[in-house]
Amino acid sequence: MKTIYSAIQPSGIMTLGNYIGAVNNWRAMQSDAGNKCIFALADLHTITVRQRPEDLLKNSWSFYALLLAVGIDVSKSIVYMQSHVHQHSELAWLLNCYTYVGEMNRMTQFKDKSAKHSDNINMGLMDYPVLMAADILLYDTDLVPVGYDQLQHIEITRDIALRVNNIYGDVFKVPEGFIPKVGAKIMSLQDPESKMSKSDPNPNAVISCLDAPEVIMKKFKRAVTDSDTVIAYDPDNKAGISNLLRILAVTEGKSVEETVKSCEGLRYGDLKVRVGESVVEMLRPFQSEYARLINSMDYLAVCAKEGALKASDIAEKTLARFKSAIGFAAK
Ligand code: TRP
Repeated sequence: MKTIYSAIQPSGIMTLGNYIGAVNNWRAMQSDAGNKCIFALADLHTITVRQRPEDLLKNSWSFYALLLAVGIDVSKSIVYMQSHVHQHSELAWLLNCYTYVGEMNRMTQFKDKSAKHSDNINMGLMDYPVLMAADILLYDTDLVPVGYDQLQHIEITRDIALRVNNIYGDVFKVPEGFIPKVGAKIMSLQDPESKMSKSDPNPNAVISCLDAPEVIMKKFKRAVTDSDTVIAYDPDNKAGISNLLRILAVTEGKSVEETVKSCEGLRYGDLKVRVGESVVEMLRPFQSEYARLINSMDYLAVCAKEGALKASDIAEKTLARFKSAIGFAAK
């Protein structure tokens, strides 16, 4: 049995990139009987950037409903909110005492976010990777599906786990990160050299998986391509077209090669319409399930509560094991 753990922040929007690159892969992993899947909303991470309380609350339930609407099944997987399981905060404190300031200072995401939020470089922003290590280590995780930008955080999680194990013996399972093959590189529609980001201020660059069909079509029609006319897969020289081909390959369930072949002779404009329609069709059942769930608050609340109970059962055991190894007195 392999334990799979991942999390997403309940902030901004869930993009097409999050959908096909992350959560839809999570859904697929839960169907393997050899996997035990645990998925969290990383709301404690979200407050490293200032949030309006009403936005955080609304986004938390919205993202919870989004995960279920994708098809993540609460009878197969544990789905919970990080802030409901206090062991995350507690383990993060303990791990802080085994993490060096210099290591955190060198983290790429910390440097980027410090530049972006220079008016609020709080301790939480710097401590973000340690909280992430706590998330992962609490569940004796084997595998952590993430995007490229999070690989450095998985590396530091492994370093911290190994460091603790070297001092105290086998306290933590040392996890591995991996990048799911499908949809790993969904790029901005306006700047196809950079990743489609949930916090991009340009709405035309990003498809929200809750965008209405006509909005999706409009954004694809405006997608930035190149001045050539031939459809070919060439990420270095034709980043925009290659991004559209990758999206189409996922939504049609084909390989990129097959997709390129089936698009031979099409004009760029035709390709954009075909990708747009294919995304609209893929999202249609998901969007109607979301509309149903977001109006079933009582159901969502019950699911989140049960998820938190199951998660804290596991988390408490790991935390107790570590506290006893450190030498804290039993209560
Ligand atoms: N930092 C991750 C992101 O922004 C979210 C996250 C928080 C996470 N805790 C995690 C991902 C634990 C994997 C495992 O994408």
